[in-house]
Amino acid sequence: MKSALSTLFLGLAQLPIGESLDNGLGRTPLMGWSSWNVAQCNAASAKYALDTANKFVSLGLKDLGYQYINIDDCWSTKSRNASGKLVPDPSKWPDGIKPVADKIHSMGLKFGLYGDAGQMTCAGYPGSESHEASDVAQLVEWGVDFWKFDNCYTPCLDNPRPQTCSRPAGSTKTWYTPMRDAIVGAQKLRNIYFNLCNWGRDNVWTWGAQYGNSWRISEDNWGDFASVARIASIAAGIYQYSAPGGFNDLDMLYIGSPKLTTNEERLHFGLWAITKSPLVLGLDLDNISDTRLAIIRNKGIIDINQDPLGKAATTFRPPGAPAPVSGQVYPYWAGPLSDGVVIGLCAGTAAGTYTVNFTDVPGLGAGTYTWKEMYTGQTGNGTSVSFNIDLHDMRVIKVTKA
Ligand SMILES: *[C@@H]1O[C@H](CO)[C@@H](O)[C@H](O)[C@H]1NC(C)=O
Ligand SMILES: *[C@@H]1O[C@H](CO)[C@@H](O)[C@H](O)[C@H]1NC(C)=O
Ligand SMILES: *[C@@H]1O[C@H](CO)[C@@H](O)[C@H](O)[C@H]1NC(C)=O
Ligand SMILES: *[C@@H]1O[C@H](CO)[C@@H](O)[C@H](O)[C@H]1NC(C)=O
Repeated sequence: MKSALSTLFLGLAQLPIGESLDNGLGRTPLMGWSSWNVAQCNAASAKYALDTANKFVSLGLKDLGYQYINIDDCWSTKSRNASGKLVPDPSKWPDGIKPVADKIHSMGLKFGLYGDAGQMTCAGYPGSESHEASDVAQLVEWGVDFWKFDNCYTPCLDNPRPQTCSRPAGSTKTWYTPMRDAIVGAQKLRNIYFNLCNWGRDNVWTWGAQYGNSWRISEDNWGDFASVARIASIAAGIYQYSAPGGFNDLDMLYIGSPKLTTNEERLHFGLWAITKSPLVLGLDLDNISDTRLAIIRNKGIIDINQDPLGKAATTFRPPGAPAPVSGQVYPYWAGPLSDGVVIGLCAGTAAGTYTVNFTDVPGLGAGTYTWKEMYTGQTGNGTSVSFNIDLHDMRVIKVTKA
């Protein structure tokens, strides 16, 4: 009896999910901007959305592939209205959401919003728990193209539920299912990119592609080098789960963080790009420095991120090199491209001369190759490459058969 029952339960647990998110979106990593790292709640406004859209065009970012203008937490009022609907905060959206989305669409760009799987968003605005289908109907009506779904105030063994639950009452998968189903249900009316933000819980990379177009793999990027190192080190271990239609999301970029040096910003952008993370800018484009602009407009690196093969780079260990250390930036990275291989060299813990022989690089092997380094523009050919790299800086090298 016992064994028959456990067989039955095992059978139920393994039933295929009813719907899978196969919406044709996110065939290459999403590129865009999000309000959060710019000014948190204060940037969740029509003004920021429209200013950023204009800057996407005037700074040439749109032509480089940056497309999504995503508004994060704090865009609504603190409670639902009498019809149970989310209401845009009138002080931030004087004409509502739809005219802003319409304007952004007329510029050839896309518009995203943020919600939460629990009772409240992380900043305490209404969550979508048990309002999933109604909220998606609202997104469709407004013309929303992207929906980030956070994991605050979700079912928890602690009562009342805390903002960030350390003892979840079940799998995050359970509370992401109704929203996924609502988005799939509305797909014929509007195709919405679905970004799962469960902070990498429940090995989301193993099921994320059935649920969304990208999934956060970790806790937040706090805008310091330790965050960059922590997240990159996680990404290296789960690279194989990224593929066209569903990518590991290393979290929004923090180019522009006062806690990062220029070297660190280059490494941050380069590692996010080669691991095929969505590239979501998080800085105020009104006063961006030329140095930062050069980083985010690096076409060679963007092309590597957007390569149609959609396979993420990971670490490799040349003969004599030490093993990777969790939480640190490993020096040697490589990944396949549709027309070659990308090598990343990172001075993650020490400045120095970093050399690799192409024989030791996965996807290459014996022979002579042509290469181009994307930050310095240097080119060359031979059986190896070598760079002097300053502390926390990176070199991104595209290698093709000579
Ligand atoms: C509730 O808000 C939605 C959209 O935010 C609006 O369409 C609807 O008319 C509102 N209902 C009431 C009763 O105010
Ligand atoms: C850009 O402007 C914002 C708001 O005024 C300010 O907080 C930030 O420090 C400025 N950034 C730069 C790089 O000047
Ligand atoms: C790279 O390795 C190959 C095979 O061991 C060797 O023939 C070649 O000389 C090496 N290249 C360099 C620059 O050391
Ligand atoms: C390859 O190396 C040769 C000899 O050093 C040089 O003449 C040629 O310009 C190089 N090609 C590239 C693409 O760097």
